[in-house]
Amino acid sequence: MNVLFFSAKPYDIHFFNQANQEDAHQLTFLEVPLNHNTAALIKGEEAVCVFVNDTVDAAVLQIMATAGVKVIVLRCAGYNNVDLRVAQELGIKVVRVPAYSPYAVAEHTLALILTLNRKTHRAYNRVREGNFALSGLMGFDLHGRTVGLIGLGKIGLVTARILKGFGCRVLGYDISKSNETEEIGVEFTDLDSVYSQSDIISLHCPLTPQTFHLINAESLGKMKDGVMLINTSRGAIIDTKAVIEGLKKEKISYLGLDVYEEGGDLFFEDLSDKVIQDDTFMRLLSFNNVLITGHQAFFTTDALQSIAQITLQNVSDFEAGKPLQNEVLS
Ligand code: NAI
Repeated sequence: MNVLFFSAKPYDIHFFNQANQEDAHQLTFLEVPLNHNTAALIKGEEAVCVFVNDTVDAAVLQIMATAGVKVIVLRCAGYNNVDLRVAQELGIKVVRVPAYSPYAVAEHTLALILTLNRKTHRAYNRVREGNFALSGLMGFDLHGRTVGLIGLGKIGLVTARILKGFGCRVLGYDISKSNETEEIGVEFTDLDSVYSQSDIISLHCPLTPQTFHLINAESLGKMKDGVMLINTSRGAIIDTKAVIEGLKKEKISYLGLDVYEEGGDLFFEDLSDKVIQDDTFMRLLSFNNVLITGHQAFFTTDALQSIAQITLQNVSDFEAGKPLQNEVLS
């Protein structure tokens, strides 16, 4: 099948060409993101492959339908950027990669927690400058601390397992409870208990109308003073302005983000010679207890191999008229 890729980076091209064994599909890679202007580049391809920051709203879907697109192939797990209802109305199927490596994201979550806690990013710079003073670098033992996880799906549960290995008490909240939760030793509880009892809170739920700005002034008010907040899920689960207030009032003592609600305009691009216009983002960067990575939690070789294989299998299944295991329905 002809597959047109938007937002293709060199690493996408490498892993997809590697996974496209025996040239089963014809892959065309475009660097530009999919949006209202670039949708016109679709010329007869029945499959379009997109990533997290591509725009797949009603207007783009309409252009796709006119161009003859039959299937949208998401090379990611989240699908909050796709208007599923309109896709269904237009008869365009949507498939995704529901799981590729929960370990990649869970391990990055721990990287954020450990870096914020033990300040290895600051220590690295200090030591290189010959500054071996320890002031400002004090951390705390993770052992015995309480960590609250919101969302106990694939990534939340792997994160829980790792944290149990550190000797943490792990609290968890989800809208549905799996048997694995008890097996791992997660104390399943309600949101308010997660807020009030946790030293560290980490978000692992999807972005939905229910989770939009779940972390806001009210929920922050229920948290412990000095809480560590980690978000590797989706930016808009956090109300960034409320979190900035929380940092200024020292309610939040550590903030680790791999995602940001306006990240679509920033992440995955080299803007180092540009003036960043987003004042909210720049304010976040001004705190020395805030650590931001640019949506890289998924970025391991294992995950990228898996994403490419599953995405191309989704394309093959569609082409063969097989049931679409990874279809996203509205
Ligand atoms: P999953 O679907 O296995 O788990 C999500 C869990 O959240 C489910 O158990 C679900 O019941 C729960 N949930 C749904 N609504 C909820 C609510 N209102 N409150 C509490 N829990 C709720 O998904 P997975 O693979 O664990 O991924 C979680 C999220 O991580 C994804 O939705 C995606 O946004 C994000 N992600 C981030 C990546 C990154 O590179 N930073 C990479 C991959 C995923």
